[in-house]
Amino acid sequence: MIQFSVNGEAVAHTGDPEEPLLWVLRDSLGLTGTKFGCGAGLCGACTVHVDGAARRACVTPVKTVEGQAVTTIEGLGAQGLHPVQQAWIAEDVAQCGYCQAGQIMAAVDLLRQVPNPSDADIERLQTNLCRCGTYTRVRKAIFRAAA
Ligand code: FES
Repeated sequence: MIQFSVNGEAVAHTGDPEEPLLWVLRDSLGLTGTKFGCGAGLCGACTVHVDGAARRACVTPVKTVEGQAVTTIEGLGAQGLHPVQQAWIAEDVAQCGYCQAGQIMAAVDLLRQVPNPSDADIERLQTNLCRCGTYTRVRKAIFRAAA
């Protein structure tokens, strides 16, 4: 049994310990805010936090989060919108919206690492892909949240 927490709730996973965290979140726990994009750790649509750090859930075997605290987009906004979510709304970032939960989770971790990022910091750390090309608005929202 793999024990960890998700958005502050205790979880005991009794299935395959190699199962990607993404499928445990979506299929077992019904937390569908975390998206499936590439399934190969490349696009970032599945980004969640594990003990506060961004992690791509599609390539994270659930056994590797034993004893850790997982936060999804649902948990990020549970106590009222996070400043990054507020900035996302203010900058009207989303187009189709599919990648945006992952983008927001990555941005929160970026600002944890670099509270006042430069363009170069964002280039280096915000590597999530967006097929709609919302990158300019993503950047504006990160700067707004940092201000
Ligand atoms: Fe996980 Fe693309 S779905 S990185």
